[in-house]
Amino acid sequence: MVRIMIINGPNLNLLGRREPQIYGHTTYADLIKLIHKHCTERGAECKIFQSNHEGTIVDAIQEGADYFDGYVINPAAYTHTSVAILDALKAVGLPAVEVHISDVDKREKFRQISYPGMYCFKTVKGEGVQGYCTAIDALLDKLAEQGCR
Ligand code: DQA
Repeated sequence: MVRIMIINGPNLNLLGRREPQIYGHTTYADLIKLIHKHCTERGAECKIFQSNHEGTIVDAIQEGADYFDGYVINPAAYTHTSVAILDALKAVGLPAVEVHISDVDKREKFRQISYPGMYCFKTVKGEGVQGYCTAIDALLDKLAEQGCR
């Protein structure tokens, strides 16, 4: 079975309560359910991880590499600052898709740069929480192309 890890960065645990006009009303608990349902339907095993700490996300990327086949990552605010997360993705070398709930390109200028996105083979943005399913599909399709099952 294909195994993927979904990595969520800072403040995503507050989904539903956090700026709902931007991120919507879906709670983090609902997002977890949505992702598990989608992965089950696609026949993939998934682990969902969230941290508010940059180094902990780097650790998760490194440690996950022995078990998982690829990553879907929403680095949240670290998107726009973290060379460390970019380097961790490059170091492990697994396929990765970046996802953002909001359309970061239509927001403040500082959100228009993504360091982890420089490694990811695809970025999904502005689709709301449903974008996680789009990102998972892209990752699973890529892994299938690579013969991973
Ligand atoms: C976000 C966009 C980031 O700019 C922001 O810092 C987040 C969430 C998104 O999912 O739209 O925390 O990654």
